[in-house]
Amino acid sequence: MTRVLDGNAVGDRIRDDLRDCIDTLEREGVTPGLATVLMSDDPASETYVSMKTRACEDLGIESVHRELDSSAPAEELFDTVEALNGDPSVHGILVQMPVPDHVDKRRVLRSIDPRKDVDGFHPENVGRLVAGDPRYKPCTPHGIQKLLAAADVDPEGEDAVVVGRSEIVGKPMANLLVQKAPGGNATVTVCHSRTDDLAAKTREADIVVAAAGVPEMIDGSMIAEGATVIDVGVNRVDADTEKGYELVGDVDFESAEERAGVITPVPGGVGPMTITMLLYNTVKAASLQAEVPVDLP
Ligand code: GUN
Repeated sequence: MTRVLDGNAVGDRIRDDLRDCIDTLEREGVTPGLATVLMSDDPASETYVSMKTRACEDLGIESVHRELDSSAPAEELFDTVEALNGDPSVHGILVQMPVPDHVDKRRVLRSIDPRKDVDGFHPENVGRLVAGDPRYKPCTPHGIQKLLAAADVDPEGEDAVVVGRSEIVGKPMANLLVQKAPGGNATVTVCHSRTDDLAAKTREADIVVAAAGVPEMIDGSMIAEGATVIDVGVNRVDADTEKGYELVGDVDFESAEERAGVITPVPGGVGPMTITMLLYNTVKAASLQAEVPVDLP
């Protein structure tokens, strides 16, 4: 029997524990605060950011939102980040990616105070993760680690194949899985658009993390019997629905489910975990900045 993991259920349990952490902070007069910054006309980015701010409000995290015209000068974005860096009520800052082409993405990542970098994308935080001393683990890979743990899938000694090498998911996922730490200790292969014979690699894997951003590219024929399949993809494809599109993952769920032992659905798998771990990092950021210890889940 294939187990279909429920990211909403696992995420809700973690959010319940985070509420206790927020209560501890509140007793010391600290309300965790997250600032989101959007400089994009992409409707998907707008949806993601509004989901993040709503999740904050539901949990008792103060959220502020800054929206910039996508054609505004890049300096406006840097000024916005600088003001948020200096605002003590803001513990976490998230600039939704991608930013417009005329804005230097790497400078954006470097501009956020690394202590407020709840995405974990600042070079200092990337370096700490790679060095095995993470401060903020990037939300999607961290969420996947929590989801695997909740499903009793221990990567230790397993062959894991990560498909995709993005800064946001692929690379940090590979780093977390290879760490000599709980939730790690896997033998990790990172595949990408230039990989020769991808199917030969994924077929050997105990754990496949599909994060390439290509709709339904991993099908059942590429999965070993009983493997764990984690689908990070959120792809809008044209469909005869009210909105004119539907969301599909990077995995062809129907055929993969027939062979997988454990699989995540889209939606309802990794997505809710990403948002949960953003809340987690924001609570951690408030705890570190206010020097109020909390018992993170
Ligand atoms: N764009 C897609 N995923 C993410 C994310 O996790 N954080 C940010 N800042 N932008 C994104």
